[in-house]
Amino acid sequence: MTNFLSGYSIQKWLESCPQGYLEDTVYGHEAGEKEPEGLFDNELLREGQIRSTCNLVLGERAALAASSGLVNCAPDYKSKTFLATQTLDEARHVEIFTQRLFDLGVSPADLEDTLNEFGNPHLVKFAEVLLEKVDKGDFVAGVVGQNIVLEGMAFSVFEMLHAGAQEDNPKFAHTLSGTIADERRHVGFGENRIGALIKQYPEKKAECERMQAEMSGHMLATFASAFKEGEASNEEARRLQKEQGKESHAMYHGVDLAQADTAEMEAVLADTVLKEFKTRLGRIGLEYQSPIAA
Ligand SMILES: [Fe+2]
Ligand SMILES: [Fe+2]
Repeated sequence: MTNFLSGYSIQKWLESCPQGYLEDTVYGHEAGEKEPEGLFDNELLREGQIRSTCNLVLGERAALAASSGLVNCAPDYKSKTFLATQTLDEARHVEIFTQRLFDLGVSPADLEDTLNEFGNPHLVKFAEVLLEKVDKGDFVAGVVGQNIVLEGMAFSVFEMLHAGAQEDNPKFAHTLSGTIADERRHVGFGENRIGALIKQYPEKKAECERMQAEMSGHMLATFASAFKEGEASNEEARRLQKEQGKESHAMYHGVDLAQADTAEMEAVLADTVLKEFKTRLGRIGLEYQSPIAA
């Protein structure tokens, strides 16, 4: 067997991640970087940022639960080793996005209440489908759900947020770029490891495909309600831009996020993620299924 997982050793992780692109970062960004002042003078904008960051924390908590659970059901030590590094990555993501909530003015005592208030119920259901597989010790379905579906979604959401933050919020953009690099590694592992397992256990295909369809349905429902809830703060940001005579642009897959309305943003995100699923599932020998409406 070729050593297809040698790129996923702890040594490699140390060199590329903590001693590489994360070196000298503080909670994922450069030391001294702050949230833009304007956020604290405008409750609508600040609440919009708190809301979206709450969902990042919830998504990352699910990824932490899934990757740590998968360590114990992995059939080989190379996978366990990689998943141990991934567990630390996910715990870091939970920590840096939680820290961002504190930076945005959420008090640590109110953290759980804030997450309950702003957390998207569809995202919770999305995570439940995955965690059920992990709890049953189902490694194949667990890795497909975590490293292809959840992280494929996270990757695209982070890229979109990154495009939107680059001009206006370098602190948040830097925080995101480290997580994007991490997610790229996690998705790569999913493809490399699981392709071989799907060949070995073709009877698992139908179940994995069904899970993808279910998770995709919850994902689309998450996007729909998140963009709807974000509409007011989005419009407020546009209004302020006009007032200040600023014209900014933030391109994401051909759509200018700084000018587009929320329906266009939702459509381009959903389209990008589902296309990614199709490509990645195809590579591991699974057939993409249309989302089951949640
Ligand atoms: Fe993550
Ligand atoms: Fe991840």
